[in-house]
Amino acid sequence: MAEYTLKLRRYDPQSGEAPYYEEFQIDLEPHRSVLEAILQVKAEQDGSVGIRCSCRAAICGSCGVRINGKAGLACHTHLDAAAKTGVNADGKTILVEPMGNMPVIKDLIVDMDAVHWKKIQRVTPWLINKQPVPEREYIVPHENMVDVTQTMACIQCGACVSDCLSMEVDPLFVGPAASAKAYRFVGDPRDAEQFERLKDLAEDPHGIYDCTHCFNCIEACPKGVAPMNQIMRLRRIAGSDHHINDRNNGDRHERTIVGLIRDYGLLHEAEMLPRSYGGYSWFAKFHPAAGQELLDSLPSITKALLRGKVNPKIAMFGHRIPKSDLKAVQAIYEKVEGKPRRYELNLYISGYEDDDAPGAAEEPATVAAGGGRMPAGPGPGPHPAAGRGRGRAPRGAGEAPGAPRGTLSPGGRGPTPAPAPAEEPATVAAGGDGMPSAPGPDPNRPTAASESESA
Ligand code: SF4
Ligand code: SF4
Ligand code: FES
Repeated sequence: MAEYTLKLRRYDPQSGEAPYYEEFQIDLEPHRSVLEAILQVKAEQDGSVGIRCSCRAAICGSCGVRINGKAGLACHTHLDAAAKTGVNADGKTILVEPMGNMPVIKDLIVDMDAVHWKKIQRVTPWLINKQPVPEREYIVPHENMVDVTQTMACIQCGACVSDCLSMEVDPLFVGPAASAKAYRFVGDPRDAEQFERLKDLAEDPHGIYDCTHCFNCIEACPKGVAPMNQIMRLRRIAGSDHHINDRNNGDRHERTIVGLIRDYGLLHEAEMLPRSYGGYSWFAKFHPAAGQELLDSLPSITKALLRGKVNPKIAMFGHRIPKSDLKAVQAIYEKVEGKPRRYELNLYISGYEDDDAPGAAEEPATVAAGGGRMPAGPGPGPHPAAGRGRGRAPRGAGEAPGAPRGTLSPGGRGPTPAPAPAEEPATVAAGGDGMPSAPGPDPNRPTAASESESA
């Protein structure tokens, strides 16, 4: 047994009193979960503590809370691990608060209906059949189902929503969980409305271009859904495949960043607005929309200048990097743009494979193709264990049996693995838009029916 201090945020909106923190001493083995500690407090010390839970096995998604400031599942967090990142230096105090970005109902229970489920409903979370419906079943290529299974692993816990920085600023943002759900259907070849779904999310000022790539949702997600990656994939399909030129300037803005890095090696701030709105023409500098945006941004620009965050000379004339470095950057572009097809790369896998295949150990395990419009290459689709976000590339992820370590293999959305082109062994950690570690239950099933709320 070990002693821990559980510091709980208490709040009952109906009481009219302000929130406060209360500490409880608990005695439990270090490998027991934070949820067990909360339930012990509830059973033995204060029955009024509000917590929602059901399965206690990281399956139902009901016990989302913030532990030491980060969202996660209380039943999936060991006491010793939580204490190590605790708020006090004593190594035994664990801070538990309700999730963010959602109103608190009581103590650790938040109102998922008010935010999370509304956003899920916003993205039409069901399949719209292509017509005519086949007499028997649809036959879906294996790769396509592998591609969407990562998003199907979502257990709707709301941890990503809780920690989304964009939602803090714009509560109307569709958010990470709903965007991942949108990819679930955009990536499904049986769905009849891929274009309409993407157009809707691209044109919405609170849609896919509202994400700021902060990575918080990837960090928070207990199921490796990597919502930010799904948002990027939605953007790529919207922009590159459907050429949706959205009114939010999102796609053009992204293309401008890509173009500026190719031209300068780093961002050239003064060129951002003209190129975003007017393209590469010199007259773009006088594009009315760019002027308007500049005017709107003046307060932020002035603040940045006053605080020394921006160097006016560099902002106006651009960064200069050594020519050899710029050439190296441009060589990457040439290589990527020279590819006949787009590869969906999951760049969040790092490290080396533990593979005992002869001769495999010394080579980095870096590529597992996944997702997207699909790669060519040898072998079958990504390994079902591929792509759990950060961490080691799984054994054989996305590789053809017997292929050299790091060889790209097809995965994801592409219908047909072409015969292997002369693809040199890749060195980028890729792929895994493939797979979750453990598929959860039907993500379309709201958990509310089976969960218990005790307050
Ligand atoms: S990456 Fe985007 S969706 Fe994810 S938490 Fe950050 S802003 Fe939100
Ligand atoms: S994407 Fe991950 S964090 Fe977000 S609701 Fe689904 S399982 Fe939870
Ligand atoms: S109780 Fe934690 S996920 Fe079900």
